[in-house]
Amino acid sequence: MTDSASLFHVIDPRIFKRPLLDQLCALATRARSLSRTDQGARALHDLLSTRRAMLYFTQPSTRTFLSFSNACHVLGIRTSEIRDPSTSSEVKGESFEDSIRTFSSYVDVIVMRTKESGRAAQAARLMDGIPRPVPVINAGSGSDQHPTQALLDIYTLQRSFENRGGIDGKVIGMMGDLKRGRTVRSLCYLMKNYVGVRLVFIAPQQFAMEPDVKAHLDEHGIPYTETTRLADVLPALDAIYVTRMQTEWDTAGESRNVELSQFSIGTPELSALRPDAIIMHPLPRGPEIDPAVDQDPRAMYWRQERNGMWMRVAVLVKIFAAEDRIAAIG
Ligand code: NCD
Repeated sequence: MTDSASLFHVIDPRIFKRPLLDQLCALATRARSLSRTDQGARALHDLLSTRRAMLYFTQPSTRTFLSFSNACHVLGIRTSEIRDPSTSSEVKGESFEDSIRTFSSYVDVIVMRTKESGRAAQAARLMDGIPRPVPVINAGSGSDQHPTQALLDIYTLQRSFENRGGIDGKVIGMMGDLKRGRTVRSLCYLMKNYVGVRLVFIAPQQFAMEPDVKAHLDEHGIPYTETTRLADVLPALDAIYVTRMQTEWDTAGESRNVELSQFSIGTPELSALRPDAIIMHPLPRGPEIDPAVDQDPRAMYWRQERNGMWMRVAVLVKIFAAEDRIAAIG
């Protein structure tokens, strides 16, 4: 996928180029504004009402599942779901490949989240080799990638900086468990599409950003710095993307040793943050953002959550090549 021409599988964020990102953001905004009237909402609901989706989420999810499910409903797409693998034939020993092929027999798109990395990519490869392939969307693969989260993060950044020249030239901080957090890993992969962006990684040493992502940034000439001290960098940031400790990946309670207060935003940090900066978080949050911060106009995470549904609407519209039809709605 090199331009805005078409979209099939959504597995690795590195496929996204600027024209496609811009088009997806515009589609999300278009769908959102259509939904504000009954007539527009009905037209949206007719758009893909002959399509069906499989939501295969065997790893815990609230937002991603609900936003995909509701994005489907906005577009009239009917959904089937498996969230608990103990209710699927996998317990009878059916292989992963056979399960995926079975889903593809009944639906037009498979959206999947798994605890293991690489599963969505494996499903996409399988689809590419069968007579009736359906697109596969990665809704989170282990601690590896979460491409649609990165897209909604881009949409949120773009909307927030709409009157400040967009994402180009911004200084974006990413804080928390950068080693095991798939959202920040995926978001880094999209940064090559923006001119003059600088990244600042704020993480405990043992949870620093992984070398594979840093190598990608080096390769694309995206400058980044690393620190363990938020106070040193906070005033320079246009955006701070906060993440939680990914404790579910601990093998021996590693994250318990982290002094979390040093990687958190509370009322004291707000005074050091620029008045036009924004605070993002993929959610769910732990103690790293004090709920008192929610009242601050710079707190963008609840809007970011809602943006997620509209970006997933945009992704589905694009996959099913309905962009001309959505443009033509009166
Ligand atoms: C994230 C995830 O699942 O990776 N949540 C989400 O999809 N919004 C972030 C997280 O769990 O920390």
